[in-house]
Amino acid sequence: MKVSPSILSMDFSKKEEEIRKLNQTDAEFIHLDVMDGHFVSNTTFDEQFIKTINCDKIYDTHLMIKEPLKQLHKYVPYTKYLTFHYEAEEREDILQYLKTRKDECLIGLSIKPGTDVTVLDEMLPYLDLVLIMSVEPGKGGQKFMDSALQKLAYLADKKKVFGYKYLIEVDGGINEQTAKLVKGVGCEVVVAGSYVFSSSDYQTAIDKIR
Ligand code: DX5
Ligand code: ZN
Repeated sequence: MKVSPSILSMDFSKKEEEIRKLNQTDAEFIHLDVMDGHFVSNTTFDEQFIKTINCDKIYDTHLMIKEPLKQLHKYVPYTKYLTFHYEAEEREDILQYLKTRKDECLIGLSIKPGTDVTVLDEMLPYLDLVLIMSVEPGKGGQKFMDSALQKLAYLADKKKVFGYKYLIEVDGGINEQTAKLVKGVGCEVVVAGSYVFSSSDYQTAIDKIR
């Protein structure tokens, strides 16, 4: 499994040092949680902040914002993967976007714990990543919800049967134990915030998750 440490839980007053420590690990991704105070109640940062981060990892941006389709273009130059929420737009608008998009970055869709995974069926052929939320989006340090497991298994099965290209990612409440559970059902990338950034040695935490 690949690991995507979420900087939501890092010490923002020591940004340079935190990113340097992350660069020294073998994590494949860096997870960037953009919150707008509308789609979720918290506010974090936007593309202006993302472009100041000097990280060697693959940028994995998770937009928790309303009307993301209007704002995707701002993030495209600064990230490899750009994921927005199914619940934040009308279904037909998402489909239309996915079928006609020319954006030069990889696109993911995320669903909240209460959203049925089958709503994504028609969209799966067009996606580069699917992000299953295993907590309610909005903050770090919450408890993993088991309901994510059957969604991950469903995506792994569809991927195998139809040969889809999307990466299967999970976000929320990942630690040494829950990482084992998601790995067992075919998850390919785990986001981990508090588990990595509250540990005294980031590499050891990442090794335990893998
Ligand atoms: C929550 C964010 C997560 C968060 C995960 O809305 O999307 O990426 O950082 O934090 P932990 O790993 O602490 O649950
Ligand atoms: Zn996230």
